[in-house]
Amino acid sequence: MMIVMNIESISEKSNAMTIPSVLITGASTGIGAAYAERFARRGHDLVLVARDTARMEALAARLHQENGVAIDIIQADLTQAAELATVETRLRDDARIGILVNNAGTAIGGSFIEQSTDDVARLVALNTTALLRLASAIAPRLAAAGEGAIVNIGSVVGLAPEFGMTVYGATKAFVLFLSQGLSLELAPKGVYVQAVLPATTRTEIWGHVGADVNTLSGVMEVDDLVNAALVGFDRRELVTIPPLPDAGQWDALQAARQAMLPNYRNEHPAERYRTVA
Ligand SMILES: NC(=O)c1ccc[n+]([C@@H]2O[C@H](COP(=O)([O-])OP(=O)(O)OC[C@H]3O[C@@H](n4cnc5c(N)ncnc54)[C@H](OP(=O)(O)O)[C@@H]3O)[C@@H](O)[C@H]2O)c1
Repeated sequence: MMIVMNIESISEKSNAMTIPSVLITGASTGIGAAYAERFARRGHDLVLVARDTARMEALAARLHQENGVAIDIIQADLTQAAELATVETRLRDDARIGILVNNAGTAIGGSFIEQSTDDVARLVALNTTALLRLASAIAPRLAAAGEGAIVNIGSVVGLAPEFGMTVYGATKAFVLFLSQGLSLELAPKGVYVQAVLPATTRTEIWGHVGADVNTLSGVMEVDDLVNAALVGFDRRELVTIPPLPDAGQWDALQAARQAMLPNYRNEHPAERYRTVA
């Protein structure tokens, strides 16, 4: 079931003409709700998307009262094609929306052989397919306008199979690659694409994987995470990794990857593969 609600007054509509609206998925709690709070404080009208309408209504009412911004709520399960399509249509048609925060995502517990095929497929549907479809829905309009931004929430897990969250990490590796590729395509057209890679952050996601976040070390508070992500956003950083102390390590990884690129263009297999059985 899909519910679309609106909290605004006529006088606020003029706001949307100067400051772009922000559509945030997974805005009912956690990182998405913190993004909603920050962008509302900056004067952006919002479109909040998630399944839990009551939570979004409470957040919207508070942010509207505190900041005077207009807030729409779209109840949608982004793993359901028809509900996802409603959000895609909104992104295609609503020219006020200039920023998409592709944040909705989840994780599941257990090892690969313990996870059911349906559960991993649902995880991929939310973390990758929904994110991709929403980016695809808004990108042509932003490119035509020559402005706007797409923020994709990945994870450091996408850089580290060693962390043991294989399918979740694979979805987040997809998010990083997609963001880097989209940035190459869209930056020349005036559209900013940012990948944000949080590490362990204190949200409800840990309950969904059966972990008690209070037993984990190095846990970042959600407000610190989103504040840092917005510093990266304001600097137009392509990849923002809030917990990484030395940005030079990321730059070195990218330089090593790029140094290999010319070596992929070879007519013949490498010497080590030329032995015939
Ligand atoms: N917390 C961390 O440690 C951490 C680390 C790295 C990356 N991340 C990433 O950060 C993003 C936000 O995670 P979080 O930690 O804030 O998690 P969270 O507290 O569990 O919040 C997830 C949000 O996504 C929404 N959502 C979940 N399933 C949905 C569905 N099928 N359709 C629509 N919305 C759905 C939830 O709302 P409803 O339940 O109301 O639908 C909620 O608003 C995710 O992409 C996650 O992978 C988190």
